[in-house]
Amino acid sequence: MLLQPLVCGAGFAYNPAMLNEEAYNPVDTAKQLLAMESLLGNTDFLPVGRNSLPELDLPEPPVAAAGAVGAASKGAVLQELSPEEKAAALQQLDADEVKPCRKCELCKTRTNTVFGEVNPNADLVFVGEGPGADEDASGRPFVGRAGDLLTKMIAAMGLSRSDVFICNMVKCRPPGNRTPLPEEVAACWDYLVRQLQIIRPKVIVTLGNPATKGLLSTNVGITKMRGVWAQLPDIGPGLGGIPVMPTFHPAYVLRNYSVNTRGLVWSDLQSVMEHLGLKIPQK
Ligand code: URA
Ligand code: SF4
Repeated sequence: MLLQPLVCGAGFAYNPAMLNEEAYNPVDTAKQLLAMESLLGNTDFLPVGRNSLPELDLPEPPVAAAGAVGAASKGAVLQELSPEEKAAALQQLDADEVKPCRKCELCKTRTNTVFGEVNPNADLVFVGEGPGADEDASGRPFVGRAGDLLTKMIAAMGLSRSDVFICNMVKCRPPGNRTPLPEEVAACWDYLVRQLQIIRPKVIVTLGNPATKGLLSTNVGITKMRGVWAQLPDIGPGLGGIPVMPTFHPAYVLRNYSVNTRGLVWSDLQSVMEHLGLKIPQK
């Protein structure tokens, strides 16, 4: 049910207007500029220095294997799946394992599990910390205030939520929005790895400390990590080497709503856009 509409959206990855000069659409560009203005708080944008792209050492293409969908959804063997197979594998993982999951204490206090959404064929995956109250109530990731800002960030990139996949380190809400405990992250880890194995994005953006520390297996804080390309460690077949851009969590941006913080996030997103070949609007 949750993933059903994804199947129809699975055939595209990005707004073609951003990639193809001939299909340039001034309305889309204006929307992107407005979202960027809004992201930056309608102040004059102060450009911040950006890190140049490193030489990217991309993972080997996965080994072809029979029974792709079943295998990928179990995380055993990996094959590049069709968009339809990706949608089916994600849906199966959600319905058969995540929804009924009781692997950690968070199952006792959750209202809904929050698997993640939208595009099973996304080139870009955002990983946050864990569901908050709005997400727990709706079963959807990033739908509260922080989610609104993330949605604007995505729009400023010239994309929409239906182009990307958004998920979290843990799929159930930690009570009172506390940081998930290491044992909760560990219990939920396998689901995240398998989501990433099914989607196989070109870039992962980690939002804030728990996602950055967890996925990059580091103790270095987000203030030092953000804006610098990292590579996903070998956390599962086909995943080692995927470029990761850590940036501030939108909730942190809301708490520290300065031109500087917003400018840093925008510069991180521009690095991602550059890597994905997306058009960066000039003011
Ligand atoms: N914060 C997160 O980290 N994830 C959500 O889904 C919502 C808020
Ligand atoms: Fe299962 Fe993850 Fe929810 Fe814990 S947080 S109960 S591991 S789905």
